[in-house]
Amino acid sequence: MTASSITIIRPDDWHLHLRDGPQMAAVLPYTVRQFARAIVMPNLKPPITTTQQALDYAARIRAAVPPELIAQGQSFEPLMTLYLTDQTSAEEIARAHASGVVHAVKLYPAGATTNSDSGVTNLDRCTSALEAMQRLGLVLCVHGEVTDAAVDVFDRESVFIDQVLITLRQRFPELRIVFEHITTRQAADYVRDADGPIAATITPQHLLYSRNAIFQGGLRPHWYCLPVLKREVHRQALLQAATSGNPRFFLGTDSAPHERSTKESSCGCAGCFSAPYALELYLQAFESADALDRFEAFASFHGPDFYRLPRNTSTITLSRIGQQIADHFPFPSGSIVPLASGEHLAWRVQASA
Ligand code: DOR
Ligand code: ZN
Repeated sequence: MTASSITIIRPDDWHLHLRDGPQMAAVLPYTVRQFARAIVMPNLKPPITTTQQALDYAARIRAAVPPELIAQGQSFEPLMTLYLTDQTSAEEIARAHASGVVHAVKLYPAGATTNSDSGVTNLDRCTSALEAMQRLGLVLCVHGEVTDAAVDVFDRESVFIDQVLITLRQRFPELRIVFEHITTRQAADYVRDADGPIAATITPQHLLYSRNAIFQGGLRPHWYCLPVLKREVHRQALLQAATSGNPRFFLGTDSAPHERSTKESSCGCAGCFSAPYALELYLQAFESADALDRFEAFASFHGPDFYRLPRNTSTITLSRIGQQIADHFPFPSGSIVPLASGEHLAWRVQASA
């Protein structure tokens, strides 16, 4: 297909890191230009563990939407999450569900990634919270990696399926789970074939790049995220899943802003900042699979359907007008480098209605 433009129902980002304060104010406009809603990750310092904290954080996000974007008719709804800990109570889950603002609870195995120190040390400690979530239909978002230092970094997702996810789903068969930012063929196959309510988000970087991108001509920290990019065979499995039309797979950028010097460092942070060009990057991936006609459902239908939220009604248009990804953007105490900076994109977000 060689369409010159594509108009789709406005998408949502089902996995996003916004941070807080001036950092949030710096990155939020990029998301608001492309997405109507986003599932906002709770891994702040300290993490968002209570409904009240989530409500306060949502208010700060709403207040940071630039007035000029509102004047252009763009609205943005933050869909909040709670950070699951060993202490999360069934009462807190009930409050979260009743709030109408918290739409999911995030499981970070302790130590798995950025700001996951307060994460779950043993899922047996979360039984009453998970029972309440299953009963109420509140979604569990899962960072699916084991943290055992003896397990190879590239195997941590597939080992998580075998050692944690299968047992978790046997114990809570009706628990609604989103396996976040999947990176392997094993995860794509598991989600496709599993019984019961499970879905997965897929990032632009895992659709576009294999782990070679991290080492292309030297060490490239802006391609480093967790779970880390995998072999080409996995990228192809993810692209196949995303473009298959299966409603269990949907868009979640995992855009994760880190100031430039914290990534270009002797111990660089994990996270790809994809928000400014998210839709263009995804479209590049879908076009490479000759699947532009499958993009709208992946970006705009499957997510709200799984989360039991209404689909958006406004639209967004992307045109085949090439552009170069910026080298960097302003960010508090320095700058921020977007994913694939300097590279060429075939598409560009044009108009919304
Ligand atoms: O690369 C990542 N960055 N993976 C995560 O799970 C967390 C995220 C972040 O918050 O920076
Ligand atoms: Zn994330």
